[in-house]
Amino acid sequence: TPQMEEELSEECRELISSLPTEKGLVSGNLYQYEGFWHTSEILQKILPYQNQFEARDSDIYLVTLPKSGTTWLKAMVFALVNRTQYNPNSNQQHPLVSNNPHQLVPFLESEPISNGVDSCPTDPRLIATHLPLVFLPESVKQSGCKIVYLCRNPKDNFVSLWHFTNKLRTEEMGCISLEETFDKFCRGVELFGPFWDHVLGYWKESLEKPDKVLFLKYEEMKENPGNHLRKIAEFIGCPISMEEESFNLVNQILELCSFDHLSNLEVNRAGRLSSGHSKSAFFRRGEVGDWKNHLTPEMAQKVDEIIKQKLGASGLTF
Ligand code: A3P
Repeated sequence: TPQMEEELSEECRELISSLPTEKGLVSGNLYQYEGFWHTSEILQKILPYQNQFEARDSDIYLVTLPKSGTTWLKAMVFALVNRTQYNPNSNQQHPLVSNNPHQLVPFLESEPISNGVDSCPTDPRLIATHLPLVFLPESVKQSGCKIVYLCRNPKDNFVSLWHFTNKLRTEEMGCISLEETFDKFCRGVELFGPFWDHVLGYWKESLEKPDKVLFLKYEEMKENPGNHLRKIAEFIGCPISMEEESFNLVNQILELCSFDHLSNLEVNRAGRLSSGHSKSAFFRRGEVGDWKNHLTPEMAQKVDEIIKQKLGASGLTF
């Protein structure tokens, strides 16, 4: 909003005045910097991070584009990493029963820079971010930390984004049409977008550094969540043991973190996060293929063509 922009530093104001700009989906403007779209507030926050943020080798970063399963991934990895401290089977006492996943795993771009992510309640630190690879702090790229990247079919990602956007828009703003949102999406104009450049950055990094970046897809995780949980556990260095397999730990975590369980919890049905987002907005349907209920065949074809062209011979397909 204009009021927020007044609080920007001189430096940031100067920078954004030279950048291509477009109206965002909710309020305020987006600015295109080094190929990606940001709000001015996020730019102001993350630019100093590049050299000042101190990653630790033990850190685990959960990276997503908005609406590609962030909430689910946060819940699953939180439950995994803290399984000795919090028994996923004793639902009553589990932090995921009394907190929204976003309250347990902070976003890098919404925390103060001071000593890294101060409010991070876990050890190792579990930190989420929507930042494209090129905007990750240098120390995250250089340190021995792990990155779990989760993406989603672009058509479902878009439909989820459109619904979410309309939940965030106030009554005065009114709803934004599917067509207008679609036009922006196809031009790559969305916060942290373009979609294809975001996924490609992490896809290539995962091929070059498979020990550093684990690349996952929402659809595949829905199809076989157990194997994905095992894969994540191994990747972040806390594999599921034979003993844990014998008492079905994997299923316990999956049930604790399932869409049905989380979305029906009191704590996720009402109230807002400190960011102002309503907690229930993060749970809609949680299904694969909902785009079929919203996109015309022409729209679907258009996305497919763009994605095919942009992803080229990368080997990544949706
Ligand atoms: P839909 O809008 O298609 O239902 P994010 O967490 O990145 O904001 O993504 C939100 C999407 O993930 C929404 O998709 C939401 O319903 C879905 N989601 C939320 N919690 C989930 C869970 N526990 N399991 C599967 N999907 C979930």
